[in-house]
Amino acid sequence: MKNKTLFSWLVACTCAITVAGASLLTSHAADSEEPSSPVPFQLQSAMTPNPLELGRGVNVLGYDPIWNEFERRRFQENFFPMIRAAGFDHVRLNLHPFRHMTETEDGIQLKESWYTTLDWIVNNALRNDLKIILDLHEFQILSKNPEENKTKFLAFWEAMSDKFSGYSNQVVFEILNEPNGELDATLWEVYYKEALAIIRKYNPERPVIIGPTHWNNIEKLDTLNLPEEDRNLIATVHYYLPMRFTHQGATWVGQELRETSGVTWGSEAEQATLLSHFQKVQDWSQKHERPIYLGEFGAYDKAPMESRIRYTDSVCRTAEKMGWSWGYWQFDSDFIAFDVKSGQWVEPILKALIPNSPSLKQ
Ligand code: BGC
Repeated sequence: MKNKTLFSWLVACTCAITVAGASLLTSHAADSEEPSSPVPFQLQSAMTPNPLELGRGVNVLGYDPIWNEFERRRFQENFFPMIRAAGFDHVRLNLHPFRHMTETEDGIQLKESWYTTLDWIVNNALRNDLKIILDLHEFQILSKNPEENKTKFLAFWEAMSDKFSGYSNQVVFEILNEPNGELDATLWEVYYKEALAIIRKYNPERPVIIGPTHWNNIEKLDTLNLPEEDRNLIATVHYYLPMRFTHQGATWVGQELRETSGVTWGSEAEQATLLSHFQKVQDWSQKHERPIYLGEFGAYDKAPMESRIRYTDSVCRTAEKMGWSWGYWQFDSDFIAFDVKSGQWVEPILKALIPNSPSLKQ
């Protein structure tokens, strides 16, 4: 227990020192040699609000029936305060709007019912002091046929840019989840710059998240040439390595992984690999002076629970030491952090994400 408290303190100090622009806290932390009393872990964002720091978050509502029929939603209104109370600072809302678009005389329009649902989600998040990322999750369709879907892509950002122009910076835009396939680095740059120009017309300072190709791959960060003059951008990466561990038994990733089971994680070598991967991202972040958002990570429910806990905890603590914000994949559906049927958090996962969460029973 004592060790754990000391560890939390060390993490808190490391975080305070590594996050740029935190002079007050940095000097405070540097002054004190030993904490006189246990200091609970807190992300920097809780102390010095910075719109580019999103803190701890969770992916929500991507695959909820709510989008087809509000009454059939799994996600209930009381989940918003519950997520906040558990210690999360934001939600990343995974949006699939293309199927809700229609061609009209005035161009492409989103259905009224889709807007009603979006309003319900955004307003509930904000009311509960959760930042909300509007993540365009049409990555499959757009990566397969960019040209065919470009009009919809830009129409979506035109609509969001207009709708949210008067909102606070608690609402954050993410231009596209995991560009891949036909969206290679060159084409992706053309696409996101066009979307960004549309966004910036009405939202000059809103935080906007952009990540590299190959599914927001850490190895592709070097191909991401964010416009220098725009300092309200956050770079994002996703981390699911090693896939053999995180996607064992998953149905959507090819036969070999589908048939893999019993792979554990957590050896010294594996921990060292994780650290070296994250260090590379950190080097990029420092070189380009961009904050990092680790927008997805996790291990599928079929991986051994002990290892999932170790992995989730290691990813979160390492990210936090680097001063990054993170969003766990995901609240509900699969990789679950919360069991909607029983109305309970999956305690070991919540504990790995937020070790001192007030919502933990033990
Ligand atoms: C996809 C999900 C998938 C997850 C992990 C997400 O970006 O939208 O369908 O389960 O990545 O593979």
